[in-house]
Amino acid sequence: MEKVNIGPQGFTLPMPQAILGTHIEGRPNYMALGWVTRVNYSPPLIGIGVHKGHATHQAITETGQFSINFPSTEMVNITDYVGLVSNKRVDKSELFDRFYGELKDAPLIKECPLSLECKLYETVSLPTNTLFIGEIVGTWCEERYMTDGVPDISKIKPFVLTMPDNRYWEVGRCVGHAWKAGKALKK
Ligand SMILES: Cc1cc2nc3c(=O)[nH]c(=O)nc-3n(C[C@H](O)[C@H](O)[C@H](O)COP(=O)(O)O)c2cc1C
Repeated sequence: MEKVNIGPQGFTLPMPQAILGTHIEGRPNYMALGWVTRVNYSPPLIGIGVHKGHATHQAITETGQFSINFPSTEMVNITDYVGLVSNKRVDKSELFDRFYGELKDAPLIKECPLSLECKLYETVSLPTNTLFIGEIVGTWCEERYMTDGVPDISKIKPFVLTMPDNRYWEVGRCVGHAWKAGKALKK
């Protein structure tokens, strides 16, 4: 089978679709976020790639705080919307109900089943984007979205993003248990 190199525009497949929450001049702002991944075990660090032109970029630079919220499939349209319009033109502050944990500039979205509050740990400036690395100081979830005290993807019903075809997908069935499925192959 011959492989074809389709060029450098590759992306991880899929990406978790999230909503990034910040404060701009004391008011909440939200943007769609696909470029997010955990990058350190302890302390718990998470990295996000944010374009330098976004209002959110300035917000994180100024406050050093942000939230990462995971919406469920019913929230596809509103998630996409906050990725289409900028705070530079449209006030997005009242789109969601919000609450706060320890960090006063990291608005957490009530409608999202899972939310992380993060304080800025390190900033890596790249040509077009900044890799903001945040330390997770709180993880917020409701009992109804958990099983045995941990978030349960089958109850949360998150959705994922594929690029460059730019589509959202729901998550399918569980196909194995991590750190266990490979044990049978160990000598
Ligand atoms: C599905 C989707 C995913 C996105 N992911 C990112 C991302 O990971 N990083 C980024 O900088 N912009 C991303 N964007 C673009 C921003 O969400 C968008 O430009 C937004 O309007 C910026 O808002 P702001 O200027 O109010 O901060 C994404 C947009 C969509 C629709």
